[in-house]
Amino acid sequence: MNNFTYKNKDLYCESVQIKTLAKKFGTPLYVTSEESIQGQYASFKSAFSKLDPLICYAVKANTNLSILRLLKKAGAGADVGGSGELYKALKAGINPRKIVFSGVGKTRGDIEYALKSNVLTLKVESTSEIILINSIAKKLGMVASLMIRINPGVSVDTHKHISTGDIGHKFGLEEKILLSFLDNNKNLKNINIMGIDIHIGSQIANPKAYLLAIKNILHTKIMLEIRGYKISHIDVGGGFPITYDVKNPKLFLDKFAKVIVPLLINSGSKILFEPGRYLVGNASALITEILYTKQNSKKKNFIIVDAGMTELMRPALYDAYHDIIPVLNNNKKSIIADIVGPVCESTDTFAYGRKIRELKCGEHLAILSAGAYGAVMASNYNGRLRPAEVLVLGSKYKVIRKRDKLEDLIKNEI
Ligand code: LLP
Repeated sequence: MNNFTYKNKDLYCESVQIKTLAKKFGTPLYVTSEESIQGQYASFKSAFSKLDPLICYAVKANTNLSILRLLKKAGAGADVGGSGELYKALKAGINPRKIVFSGVGKTRGDIEYALKSNVLTLKVESTSEIILINSIAKKLGMVASLMIRINPGVSVDTHKHISTGDIGHKFGLEEKILLSFLDNNKNLKNINIMGIDIHIGSQIANPKAYLLAIKNILHTKIMLEIRGYKISHIDVGGGFPITYDVKNPKLFLDKFAKVIVPLLINSGSKILFEPGRYLVGNASALITEILYTKQNSKKKNFIIVDAGMTELMRPALYDAYHDIIPVLNNNKKSIIADIVGPVCESTDTFAYGRKIRELKCGEHLAILSAGAYGAVMASNYNGRLRPAEVLVLGSKYKVIRKRDKLEDLIKNEI
């Protein structure tokens, strides 16, 4: 659900004019629609309603405290990828019994913090991690609830950097390695294996990958139950796609639900999902001002904007496509241009050869669908100040993150 629309040539987020926000708060500026997040949460819940799942928002997609609070209010739990995300999820008031703790490389400190916080479960990804958790839980005088992240050995139709469920990937444990470990280590008294989990990738285009992966873990479930483990929880992970190209929408959640629901409806286990991008991806735009335009001797156009890969890494890191639209939609003729940032890297390019109307310095552009893995992956590289963020609801808006100040760049340095 994309809530950025034109009214009389001016771009609005819900009922708030983007130009007004850019003027008031400066750019680069993240603007997020609360209604969009609420709508996406409701549509996810309804697509999978037959499973009555626990929806654990993958906090890593956007960790802003105000966004966590609004998802908590909608009923979400959280999937956290480390102590920092757990801290923020707890600060947002999310019930620890709705929190699952992920991560292929949890430290001893992470494990202790998660256990002491009484999270629902830790998802483990290696046998040595199981041994460490058992010993930490013993020291704390408790039994740790674990889900095993299985590597189901499936390849996924997405960018190779965000595919995570195949044998060569660092994630998860293969079934046969898990079973042989458990058969040889029956004396681990301080762990309780209560679930199995997958997360096979992100922005997955084809539901078939879920079909294969879920079939594989249902086999693992049987193998574990034969050995006396009670698998009360199955976690399907995240990965559900959104539309980045508004003119060409083709990825719909119901296609995924049609495949997943029948596989799990009679599993007898509580079903968990960990959507990140689906809930927040379309909700935000990164607003940026045009600093300069130029043309080279080969008539190639460049539009140089004040946002860069430091505010939105996705195009530089994954060749990701984002729609980019002018904040003022007049009828001037179109040109073909590279839209680039100010950072000293050639990869600091939001779009190559993009058709866009002719623009002047001082005008603004909106880079759409920047809500997931946008602000949260921002950095201070090149001495850049991390951007401000504004949350819109109807005709109201509030700042949910202040822009960094120059002093912030040195506050932890000696
Ligand atoms: N669960 C686990 C264990 C994960 O690692 C992730 C994302 C998710 C759930 C949520 O996946 P989603 O529903 O958002 O696809 N920075 C990349 C995406 C990296 C995803 C990392 N893991 C990007 O901008 O495309």
